[in-house]
Amino acid sequence: MEGLSACVSQRRYQYEEYKETADWLLSHAEQRPKVAIICGSGLGSLADLMVDKTVFPYKDIPNFPVSTVQGHAGQLVFGKLQGRECVCMQGRFHFYEGYSIQTVTYPVRVFFLLGVETLIVTNAAGGLNDGFAVGDIMLIKDHINTPGFAGQNPLCGHNDERFGVRFPCMSDAYDADLRALAKEVAEEQGCGSFLQEGVYCMLAGPTYETIAESKVLQTLGADAVGMSTVPEVVVARHCGLRVLGLSLITNKVIMDYDSKEKANHEEVLKTTKHRAQDLQKLVSNLMTKI
Ligand code: HPA
Repeated sequence: MEGLSACVSQRRYQYEEYKETADWLLSHAEQRPKVAIICGSGLGSLADLMVDKTVFPYKDIPNFPVSTVQGHAGQLVFGKLQGRECVCMQGRFHFYEGYSIQTVTYPVRVFFLLGVETLIVTNAAGGLNDGFAVGDIMLIKDHINTPGFAGQNPLCGHNDERFGVRFPCMSDAYDADLRALAKEVAEEQGCGSFLQEGVYCMLAGPTYETIAESKVLQTLGADAVGMSTVPEVVVARHCGLRVLGLSLITNKVIMDYDSKEKANHEEVLKTTKHRAQDLQKLVSNLMTKI
């Protein structure tokens, strides 16, 4: 696909559209998941660990957006992970693809209407914190919503009270109990030595950061930077879902003008491949305890 039309990039939705999607899924899937998982770039093979699956390509789901990125599976997988029912998005929607911020977050409201109570989000991110190494897993404890600073908050516009309040609190966006649980599980499975905790900053992308921008983000208190997650978390918190966020640190953000290294997507995918299994195991082991 060449790109998205202006019509799609400005798309907003009515309650009835989310409801139609949710009702269609409820009538086509037997599962009634309480947990939804959004898989980041290269992390979609989590769905391979699921059993008793029902798979819906996005293009077959009424009103659902369709992914433009080649190689992204673009499907919603219902099934069981460690005996617990869940629904997993294999392939997410990024703002940099040209979708409206409301389209990026469309699935989250559908999850809410399906009866989901907990959202787990994973992503690939660049490390800004000097103490982080490539391959570390960062539990997100807070975020910086830079598209929100620029007026791209998915909750801008009419507020539908059936989803949540006009002015939702974000100071507790990432659930403290879930983070404590994730730490416990990571220790148990031997991932404790590369588990970090920190602040995730979202940039719209698709450009990687300049050195000056990276320094600004570090000064602002960001530990990792990426191009996703925050809009979905904002919408999830608006409708009362508990959130656990996990970033895989795929590269160190370049801060030095003399560095010969350059941020690139291939490095991101290579690290993801290397550590994806640990991250997937962590999510899967968590399922029994949520
Ligand atoms: N910057 C922004 N997004 C990213 C990066 C990065 O360095 N690595 C993975 N996603």
